[in-house]
Amino acid sequence: SAMSLKDAYKNEFLIGVALANKDLTNSSITTIANNEFNTVTAEFGMKMTSILPESGVYNFAWTDQLFGFVKKSGHFVVGHTLVWHKALPEWLFCDRMGQKLKRDQLLLKLQQHINTYVGRYRGQVLGWDVVNEAFNYDGSFRNSPWLEIIGEDYIEKAFEFAHQADPNAELYYNDYGLVNPKKQAAVVALVKRLKKKGIPIHAVGIQGHYSLTYPDLNKLDKTIARFAKLGVKVMITELDVSVLPFPGVEERGEDAVISAERLIELNPYPNQLPDEIQQQLTSRYRDLFCVFLKHQSAVSRVTFWGLTDSRSWRNNWPIEGRTDYPLLFDRALNAKPVVDALLELPASR
Ligand code: G3I
Repeated sequence: SAMSLKDAYKNEFLIGVALANKDLTNSSITTIANNEFNTVTAEFGMKMTSILPESGVYNFAWTDQLFGFVKKSGHFVVGHTLVWHKALPEWLFCDRMGQKLKRDQLLLKLQQHINTYVGRYRGQVLGWDVVNEAFNYDGSFRNSPWLEIIGEDYIEKAFEFAHQADPNAELYYNDYGLVNPKKQAAVVALVKRLKKKGIPIHAVGIQGHYSLTYPDLNKLDKTIARFAKLGVKVMITELDVSVLPFPGVEERGEDAVISAERLIELNPYPNQLPDEIQQQLTSRYRDLFCVFLKHQSAVSRVTFWGLTDSRSWRNNWPIEGRTDYPLLFDRALNAKPVVDALLELPASR
């Protein structure tokens, strides 16, 4: 079918894709990104460590390229991400003498950073992942220098600063594992807290790093409904579907030594994907999209975390050196059968 994904879903929700830094100069990838998608998220290029290298001098070379690319293509940019516990420049939390900053000093630094960064692209960003992954599975606040130095209200402050820097940008809280009741409850409480204080939050980002069996579709359905009930939009921000076995927690520890036999079990398709697994991937994506379409009035975007299997972080996580097949385009940049299945879905409902 000649139709593109963004056209097939134009009455439902935006369809996005994450771009790696090197994708911007790969015309095969940018051509597909232009044709099939209408929003782009930087997989790495807009993280703090990418624009604030060790020197402490901002480097907006790649991000300016990204905004130049979307100006031509008419895509929306999703800013990923302002406050996270990863991809941080180490020196951020210390003063010149190497002394750890106090609360007010770090709040000022964060506000200045957001004013500089969000201000630079004011009016050009659909929305920002203001805070990413702030909670643990048990619902407690994830430890990070932000929490340690500022305290629990670092989240509210980040949303306030972002809104002041670009009043028209949508502001998102983004996380994974939100079907987990305790983590979900923590995010529900956060959204309620922000709203009660009159601090803008427009959406909850459900990352969507899934597999052929996780999550249970009913749990996903209820999770989306729960957030929609709070009066915020829901976005699927980093969708990919791994087709590989998932090693147990004991195997994922730093000191875990996985036997060569076990590694083969965990990497069953090193050369190509068997047809029956390809079909499972297609029906899994179709099932997931049926849930998204069921909540179409609340779901405003579905972004794939990468365009082609060769680029996926799932090839190296939760263990290195696997061959996964989680995305819409294969390693030769051909559309998989799942693309046609998704193109037909909205009309077939
Ligand atoms: O670009 C540098 C390169 O200069 C350097 O030589 C090389 C070796 O250190 O590293 C390269 O940076 C890597 C970067 O990806 C770009 O390829 C980093 O090491 C690597 O850690 C980084 O991984 C990214 C990861 O976030 C951490 O930032 C993954 O591509 C990206 O898929 C992943 O995405 C996250 C979301 O932001 C948040 N949700 C979870 C998701 C998966 O972890």
